[in-house]
Amino acid sequence: MSSFFDLSDEERMIQQTAREFADSEIAPVAGQNDAEGRFPKDIIAKLSELGFMGMLIPEKYGGSALGNLCLVLALEEINRVCASTGVTMSVHNSLATSPIIKFGSDYVKETYLPRLATGELLGAYALSEAEAGSDAASLKCRAVKDGDNFVVNGTKSWVTTGANADLYVVMLRTDPEQRASGISSFVVERDTPGLSVGKKEDKLGLRASSTTELVFEDCRIPAKNMLGEEGQGFKIAMATLDGGRIGIGTQAVGIAQACLDASVSYAKEREQFGKKIGEFQAIQWKIADMATGINAARLMVYRAARLRDEDVPHTKEAAMAKLFASEMANRAAREAVQIHGGAGYLKDFPVERYYRDARITEIYEGTSEVQRIVISRAYLGG
Ligand code: CAA
Repeated sequence: MSSFFDLSDEERMIQQTAREFADSEIAPVAGQNDAEGRFPKDIIAKLSELGFMGMLIPEKYGGSALGNLCLVLALEEINRVCASTGVTMSVHNSLATSPIIKFGSDYVKETYLPRLATGELLGAYALSEAEAGSDAASLKCRAVKDGDNFVVNGTKSWVTTGANADLYVVMLRTDPEQRASGISSFVVERDTPGLSVGKKEDKLGLRASSTTELVFEDCRIPAKNMLGEEGQGFKIAMATLDGGRIGIGTQAVGIAQACLDASVSYAKEREQFGKKIGEFQAIQWKIADMATGINAARLMVYRAARLRDEDVPHTKEAAMAKLFASEMANRAAREAVQIHGGAGYLKDFPVERYYRDARITEIYEGTSEVQRIVISRAYLGG
């Protein structure tokens, strides 16, 4: 599938391991988990055993330290069979563990990374609020310093893995007089008194992944759980999303690949007008366009991941990869349903799930419109 890129033996091995695990352990249950809205806890535990939940964590904290390109290689395979499992793995690695690795104090790293690496702790990320989605810097959830703690009040929205996580990286307003520079980031344990999981959203897709509110009521968070300095939280959130967006771009590639695989099989088998539908040019061109888009998007996510591994600026490349891959995946999902005809509209065939799951990739971790803002600012400023 990825023979065109100069992957090392180790990278190919990671990809192969993820592919085999995805096909043997996740694919058989993905449809049912989606139908029943069941979070794949057992699968996440197995992913932890494989080292896939600590892919960015340094070895000294028990992680596999494989880096972002390996994470992308594994994520594509997982997302190819189940986007709900894929986003859980992506959010844990890129949005929850990566800011702790980059911005955590020794105390925070020693306290949380070993357990995040083994999967004992599952991580999530809470930036958005009901009135602060694309305009993330306008968030209001308030943290007021009180001795060695911050007292937090407010509600976070749209938290992926919200109901199942043990630990959240949360962006809170520590200075109401400032905008972006009045925000700080904290690591918050699920069991902290005053923190509860709020409304669980009923979604179009990703139905085996939980999306919830987090409600803070006089919740006391230790000041030593702050990431970076006070007021750095928005920059930490954005730098973290640079990695997360590569993960969502990868998710889109995985979903699109699943759409292509299903469409090719169906086109070779389904007969109309006395021949296989794959013998019609109308279908051939759809397959050609899907395959071309997937190849281009895959190269973009690989490149963005490599840049992140090399620690060189990659904000623009991550936004481009996410933008291109997510729009490509939605076209691929639409065409996959079209190739399947009436069958594609039924829950009997997995393309119906791929079509629903693809839609969120254009929305979360920054809408396509936000990605275009980020990209255009890299050229025009502002
Ligand atoms: N890395 C580091 N710093 C960054 C940065 C980055 N990628 N992007 C911006 N910053 C810095 C800026 O340099 C600026 O710093 P200075 O003040 O020192 O110059 C500061 O952050 C403020 O930046 P902006 O002025 O650009 O802020 P803005 O208010 O104009 O917002 C935006 C820009 C691009 C629209 C941003 O708000 C954004 O990305 N919005 C979308 C939010 C988003 O993606 N939400 C998804 C939430 S997670 C999720 O989806 C759920 C899940 O769990 C999967």
